[in-house]
Amino acid sequence: MGHRKKETTTYKRQNNYLIMKIICRCEDIAEEEIIALIREGYTTLDEIKRFGRAGMGHCQGRTCSRLIAQLIAKETGKKISEINYPLPRPPIKPIPIKVLANTKYL
Ligand code: FES
Repeated sequence: MGHRKKETTTYKRQNNYLIMKIICRCEDIAEEEIIALIREGYTTLDEIKRFGRAGMGHCQGRTCSRLIAQLIAKETGKKISEINYPLPRPPIKPIPIKVLANTKYL
């Protein structure tokens, strides 16, 4: 995503500005886009991350995951406690660049 949004009927125009509620600030994804994914059947945080890129930005979903979970709960009628959060997958151990650049290890 990250491109300029087209005006749809769900976006509101106010004083000649397009009003969108951005849920994922890192990937610039609006609430309407998340809701559209949920209505298409992507009803888990993992699916929305994979198919909509929400949660794949710099913060890795720390900012937007709770908001997306709230939208899933609202759209599906589930309790917020029933929404599973994706497991964090950090690197096991940071690798210094000098190790990668050293041909001795090849
Ligand atoms: S706000 Fe969604 S990944 Fe950072």
